[in-house]
Amino acid sequence: MSKHYVFVANWKMQLSYAQTILYCRKNHQELKALAALPHIQQLIICPTMPAINAVKDLMQDTSVLLGAQDCSCFSAGPYTGEVSAKSLAEIGCAYCLVGHSERRIFFGETDARAAQKIDELLNEKIVPILCVGETYQEYCSGLTQTVLENHLRALTENIRAQNRIVNQLLCAYEPIWAVGTGIVAVPEVIEPVLRFMHAWFLRECPQIQKVTCLYGGSLDEKNIQKMISIKELDGFLVGGASLDFQKFKNMLSYGL
Ligand code: PGA
Repeated sequence: MSKHYVFVANWKMQLSYAQTILYCRKNHQELKALAALPHIQQLIICPTMPAINAVKDLMQDTSVLLGAQDCSCFSAGPYTGEVSAKSLAEIGCAYCLVGHSERRIFFGETDARAAQKIDELLNEKIVPILCVGETYQEYCSGLTQTVLENHLRALTENIRAQNRIVNQLLCAYEPIWAVGTGIVAVPEVIEPVLRFMHAWFLRECPQIQKVTCLYGGSLDEKNIQKMISIKELDGFLVGGASLDFQKFKNMLSYGL
């Protein structure tokens, strides 16, 4: 196997602080070994916000990297409940999810807000993981690319307007109909979408020097094997299956 994949584990609000620490303590040695496997480019864990610091300490002798699940679109100020990108950087977050469909659906996150958050993250040298994806209805109506264009336009216009050079962006195709549903998109669906995304970034925003395209949505240790046929795929965003360590381990070790 010649490819090196990025794995992002999104633990959402599934584990409490104590459960997160327990998971990491229990599986520390194995996570260390898995993160060092030659086909794993990066293993990024996105735990619940209050646990990021503690997980970072627990994983300090490993190559596991830490990500947040969200950040504020503001730098600092009277924004009760918000967490700034600066604070995330200070506690050692290297990555941060932005625009996850659950944030869009339950918290009204817009493309413009996601673009502002990415600005904040880039100012702090945190690599954004932008999530994009269409609803089932949009998928059935052939609107996938239109939806993705809208997700990407706000971001690329912003970067162009600022004349900013961006070292790296992770972009995860996460069809809403596949996230947490048990319905995984097939390679025939994913491949043209990733091709479209790569072409979009190249054409619309060459200021982004490296775009890493991920797929996420109901991945598990069985269906991940089918994904290696996808040329444009650089990695995976795993929700539910990453909470079950045995499943996650299988995905990381012999899934590919
Ligand atoms: P899932 O979640 O793997 O449970 O579908 C993926 C995600 O939300 O990032």
